[in-house]
Amino acid sequence: MRKKITVVGAGNVGANCAMWIAAKELADVVLVDVVDGVPQGKGLDLLQAGPVNGCDVTITGANDYGPTADSDIVIITAGFPRKPGMSRDDLLLANYAVVKTATEQAAKYSPNAILIVVTNPLDAMVQTALMVSGFPKQRVIGMAGILDTARFRTFIAQELQVSVENVTAVVLGGHGDTMVPLVRLSSVAGIPLTELLSAEKIQAMVERTQNGGAEIVKYLKTGSAYYAPSAAAVEMAESILKDKKKVLPCAAYLEGEYGINGLYVGVPVKLGAKGIEAIYQIKLTADETAALHRSAAAVEELVGVIKKKMAE
Ligand code: LAC
Repeated sequence: MRKKITVVGAGNVGANCAMWIAAKELADVVLVDVVDGVPQGKGLDLLQAGPVNGCDVTITGANDYGPTADSDIVIITAGFPRKPGMSRDDLLLANYAVVKTATEQAAKYSPNAILIVVTNPLDAMVQTALMVSGFPKQRVIGMAGILDTARFRTFIAQELQVSVENVTAVVLGGHGDTMVPLVRLSSVAGIPLTELLSAEKIQAMVERTQNGGAEIVKYLKTGSAYYAPSAAAVEMAESILKDKKKVLPCAAYLEGEYGINGLYVGVPVKLGAKGIEAIYQIKLTADETAALHRSAAAVEELVGVIKKKMAE
């Protein structure tokens, strides 16, 4: 029997998640959205790409969660995207309401699913999903680090004119301006990045990575990135469904790791059939630790606002 993935939100990120899932023949897809007709229309359109691309998966659209029952994975993309000049944090309360409802419904119909949250502000939204679902922390994961490292890897590959496949990068922390690209551990086919590029060039790429989302929002004007974010979410789903046990940077609930307690922060994790199967703790320098803790403090502030809202 085929696996089943529900994608909540049939906007650009959600629809492209469905497209990557179908292209990889990973699972049947149920696309859910509150807007009548949109998930049904996009679902049918994607389904009709199947014969062309040779993809035998079913894609359906729905406005309710009944058809999502017993999903193996639920990817939550629903929410408002950024407009130019907005930070991811500006979306906090509006998207809290969206993610809360999506999580309640998803958890009710698929109590054994693994939740992958994509909605911004990412770290606070995935913590919302953990609190609302009551799922174990291993089954509630945030997508951010794969996107952030993909941006860093792209810039490095472009600069050196090498294959993106050769470039490995590590980014820790929240999915925001305070993210922490670890230059020291980034490499090209095992060669340290610091031996290949000047400190100035590397610093420019670090800053471009930190502003990678905003750079795209500025071009698009009416929304934020979606091709790379959806590809990243689907890489996570693939590692889980195929039990590949890929080591990927994801937002994970930390309970003491890296000296951070009770918060979602981006760290390297092992993703397999059980969800997060391990959290890797890298020995950090004092500067890196300070940067990571600054990033965690920014996440904590947002989570504080949500906890207050939940207590109302
Ligand atoms: C980005 C948004 C989606 O980084 O967070 O592009």
